[in-house]
Amino acid sequence: MSIIIEPISFYESNYAWIMIDEKSKNAIVVDPGDAKPVLKYLEEKQLSLQAILITHFHDDHIGGIAELKSKYSCKIYAPLKEINKIPNIDQTVKDGDIISLEAMGQAEIIETPGHTLGSICYYLPNLKVIFTGDTMFSMGCGRLFEGTPQQMYNSFGKLKNLPEDTLVYCAHEYTADNGRFAISVIPESIALKNRVEQVKKLRSQYLPTLPISLLDEKRTNPFLLAKNVDEFTAFRKAKDHFA
Ligand SMILES: [Fe+2]
Repeated sequence: MSIIIEPISFYESNYAWIMIDEKSKNAIVVDPGDAKPVLKYLEEKQLSLQAILITHFHDDHIGGIAELKSKYSCKIYAPLKEINKIPNIDQTVKDGDIISLEAMGQAEIIETPGHTLGSICYYLPNLKVIFTGDTMFSMGCGRLFEGTPQQMYNSFGKLKNLPEDTLVYCAHEYTADNGRFAISVIPESIALKNRVEQVKKLRSQYLPTLPISLLDEKRTNPFLLAKNVDEFTAFRKAKDHFA
């Protein structure tokens, strides 16, 4: 397959992931919070932006929409539940919807409330990838700005059921900090120790720690390892106060 996925990093920790069909030079970008680095990337590689996928309404995910739309007339997909908080939407999407992304194949919408009430993930079965926005991070989970721990626990339950070879693309490079927390609550895990070492090496070379397979996450992410909603809630509370 001639599809590649690359990170465009901006601000302190954000990634806008760009999917590129190398044959046609068409591209789709996820959560472009800042237009500038995306425009630069598109121009340098001479790509044509076809669509933007938005996971939730926070500024660092939607800030680049207007400028990119005016330049490329790309199609904007965004969660129905956040229709009033996101500009320039062409198509709203909700749980179970399937959208067609041409060479990238189909994307299934999975509603994952917790970080915000309308947050969604885009799962692309043909490419075996999922874009989780600020819902799931490597070894971590998004802050509960709007949802309850029970809602986020249920959202993680949905993600857990996907094929284990799915590659997870998160919207922030929070992995090193998450690893420090994860090891503090599950100190006996060898898989976790190994992942933390791998992350150290990658970050010392300024390389992204993402994507990561769902299988690896299931072995190292405390929020996926939580035995029940009470443990999940306790982990989330502890993380909120972890220095
Ligand atoms: Fe966010």
